[in-house]
Amino acid sequence: MLETQHISKSFASVDSNERIQVLTDITLQVRPSSVTSIVGASGSGKSTLLHILGGLDRPDEGNVLYDGKPIFDMNDEQLAKFRNQNIGFIFQFHHLLPEFSALENVFMPALIRNEPMDKISDRARQLLTRLGLEQRIDHRPSQLSGGEQQRVAVARALMNNPGYILADEPTGNLDKKNTQALLELLFEIRDEEQVALVLVTHDSGIADKADHKFELSDGKLV
Ligand SMILES: Nc1ncnc2c1ncn2[C@@H]1O[C@H](COP(=O)(O)OP(=O)(O)OP(=O)(O)O)[C@@H](O)[C@H]1O
Ligand SMILES: [Mg+2]
Repeated sequence: MLETQHISKSFASVDSNERIQVLTDITLQVRPSSVTSIVGASGSGKSTLLHILGGLDRPDEGNVLYDGKPIFDMNDEQLAKFRNQNIGFIFQFHHLLPEFSALENVFMPALIRNEPMDKISDRARQLLTRLGLEQRIDHRPSQLSGGEQQRVAVARALMNNPGYILADEPTGNLDKKNTQALLELLFEIRDEEQVALVLVTHDSGIADKADHKFELSDGKLV
């Protein structure tokens, strides 16, 4: 189980001395293999919450528990290792490395774990094939369509068998058809890989498909 406990977060304002309070006392539970959606207006703190949930950013107050263990008690190095092993991220812009092939982008998160090359290459190929990209394995990101790039990003997020995938507007850059296809894939993969999904989205149609739906408003979760 991944849960936030009384998370608060503010940022220094660029143009005044006051701090911008983004999240106030957020407590949220994400169960294994569940799909949770988070909606909210632009600037409501959805990305901030997702980053904290995945240990990419530290809160001012509160903690995130992973199977009961507070993750922000770890130092930065331990936290990076924790993320690599347990959390997969998918962002609105794919963030693939342009000079590497689809295959290399997918197996990158496994390289730092010192696993044998043939094993990680097999897993990466399997994932790309599962995502319908077997003909695109050696393509670089610039040689892929937007929908294909995003599917490579999904494969990369799954590479290390994480318990949780955190997706920040993963379909924000896709047309209607590709959005639908990517969502269907994500839901299928949730079942196949027994992975929990947290989906940040503007789209209430997408949000409604989740098992649990939350809205961020005025720094609070409703
Ligand atoms: N590093 C930062 N420094 C200062 N302010 C920040 C920082 N990161 C975010 N903010 C502010 O915090 C608020 C929440 O930002 P966040 O990116 O979480 O919103 P969001 O809900 O994801 O919005 P969107 O739907 O547009 O992606 C915004 O007002 C933003 O300007
Ligand atoms: Mg955002």
